[in-house]
Amino acid sequence: MTESKIHIENLYKIFGKNPKSVLDFVKDGMSKQELLEVHGHVLGLKDINIEVPAKGVTVVMGLSGSGKSTLIRHINRLIEPTAGRMLVDGEDVLGMTKAQLLNFRRYKASMVFQKFGLHVHRTVAENVAYGLIVQGVSTKKAKEQSHRWLERVGLAGFEDHFPSQLSGGMQQRVGLARALATDAEVLLMDEAFSALDPLIRTDMQDVLLDLQTELHKTIVFITHDLDEALRIGDKIAVLRDGAVIQQGDPQHLIMNPADEYIFDFVKDINRGRVLKVKTIMTSDHAVDGPEISQDLVLEEALQLAAGSQSKAANVVDRRHTIIGSITLDQIVAGLARPQVDSPAEGQYR
Ligand SMILES: Nc1ncnc2c1ncn2[C@@H]1O[C@H](COP(=O)(O)OP(=O)(O)O)[C@@H](O)[C@H]1O
Ligand SMILES: [Mg+2]
Repeated sequence: MTESKIHIENLYKIFGKNPKSVLDFVKDGMSKQELLEVHGHVLGLKDINIEVPAKGVTVVMGLSGSGKSTLIRHINRLIEPTAGRMLVDGEDVLGMTKAQLLNFRRYKASMVFQKFGLHVHRTVAENVAYGLIVQGVSTKKAKEQSHRWLERVGLAGFEDHFPSQLSGGMQQRVGLARALATDAEVLLMDEAFSALDPLIRTDMQDVLLDLQTELHKTIVFITHDLDEALRIGDKIAVLRDGAVIQQGDPQHLIMNPADEYIFDFVKDINRGRVLKVKTIMTSDHAVDGPEISQDLVLEEALQLAAGSQSKAANVVDRRHTIIGSITLDQIVAGLARPQVDSPAEGQYR
């Protein structure tokens, strides 16, 4: 998962009459507010640099208006940047001709939308087959494929229904099947599950994670919800006012929030269910205790360490090699929510 599939470099987007004329102000550090009040332009994205690893899920997170949709829509060039580079598989998306771009959208990058974006007058099967028909696949083959993908997302038997006859969760399964049917390597998901009720939403996350273990798509997933980001993201980039504030390993983000904005996102999560022992262990020598996986979450590690004589456990990697140990005290400390007014908090200011 180290190879980069999408490379975003020094990307800027300014909305307004003459974006290029104010680009230098933004480059010199003018705030979004000042750009709007003094120059009547909206800062969409500011100097975005992100590597999206192949075959992984990269989450872009941020509050409403932070620039998430603007960013993801640059990847398949639904939006033209004011400045910057966008490469997919080393290919310059901004240099593509109209025909190349069309192909890129048909074969390489599929999008899943928050409001599903289904054709209301087409059946479920027709909706899923649509992208294939556009690719020039025969009607018969498209129908077969459509059936196959509907089965994969748990909608076998609903082929002839119309979208309006389905619940929101089911409609988004259709949206997912449609995106998968084209065989695109890149899935762009803009708050795809945000409109769904919590339980349905968790279901959809499971469907996606399940498919992903087999399909290994490169997924850019947008959400404003940290729990969702942590559940599905291999990597998280956090946006605020059009700029990336912090990006990287989700565990690192929780332990080392770069500023108060991110601290506010992470302070209320259930650390016991999210943090892994490998993240908080410090010792590199073995103890007299049980072996626990490096990926075990604190809540489960707590039980095992508490039950051992030494009140500690050995942490092992996937090959069962001991990579360190952790004590009950460390686990308990890791569970504690950081104090907003603690001395350590100074680093967020
Ligand atoms: N077409 C547009 N014209 C002017 N401003 C826009 C346009 N699209 C988005 N914006 C502004 O850009 C910022 C980022 O918007 P958006 O990417 O939709 O945020 P998010 O998806 O994170 O909610 C917001 O301030 C929004 O008002
Ligand atoms: Mg949005």
